[in-house]
Amino acid sequence: MRHPLVMGNWKLNGSKQMTAELISGLRETLSSVDGCDVVIAPPFLYLDQAKNAVFGSPIALGAQNVDVNLSGAFTGETSAEMLKDIGAKYIIIGHSERRTYHQESDDLIAKKFAVLKDTGLIPVLCIGETDAENEAGKTEEVCARQIDAILNTLGADAFKGAVIAYEPVWAIGTGKSATPAQAQAVHHFIRQHIAAKDAAIAEQVIIQYGGSVNDKNAAELFTQPDIDGALVGGASLKADAFAVIVNAAAAAKNAH
Ligand code: PGA
Repeated sequence: MRHPLVMGNWKLNGSKQMTAELISGLRETLSSVDGCDVVIAPPFLYLDQAKNAVFGSPIALGAQNVDVNLSGAFTGETSAEMLKDIGAKYIIIGHSERRTYHQESDDLIAKKFAVLKDTGLIPVLCIGETDAENEAGKTEEVCARQIDAILNTLGADAFKGAVIAYEPVWAIGTGKSATPAQAQAVHHFIRQHIAAKDAAIAEQVIIQYGGSVNDKNAAELFTQPDIDGALVGGASLKADAFAVIVNAAAAAKNAH
């Protein structure tokens, strides 16, 4: 049985004060969580502060990006070893904002996936189609291509213990979430696509949904059999809303 994972992607938001206040709010509302893993991914600069602030709580630490190099002359980058050293465990890669604004290719993202696995960190691989691709009926083709970048270079085994976040680009930050049925259909496709290579690996891989998940729509999304939690942007910046989403994932898991 898969354990759902709800992860907050703070994106480029935060300050020392906000980090302290948000985590203290989360500690109050999420003092014990049963049946769901909880992660927050603040900006790099606040990871150390966040690590201390979540100590002794059920909240684990994640990060929003990683470089492919481990050390050396790569100005401005952050390595997997550094993220491990600071205590981050789940690392988002391939987010559509990085694919779009930083021209990250499937090849580069596959390299990031490999470096995270080598370092013992958990990749949270974001995939998903744009609005135009969706309109053109290319959702499955795009998701398959983005997954194949890993499958064809690292093999299905790389997905053991890894996380996929299906995030339709048209749903991110728009307030227009995919419907539970729409998301379930794509999640099922993704799992089947991996199962064609290795059924056991496909069965255990966590597939989160992301894109305008909030405290109102989360519970229904989590009733779907192939939706294993959520990657949450905007709503992860509010302790109460994030806690409602976490509790909805835990309740859905416990209902099964
Ligand atoms: P959103 O962002 O919840 O604000 O739509 C999700 C994400 O980009 O991970």
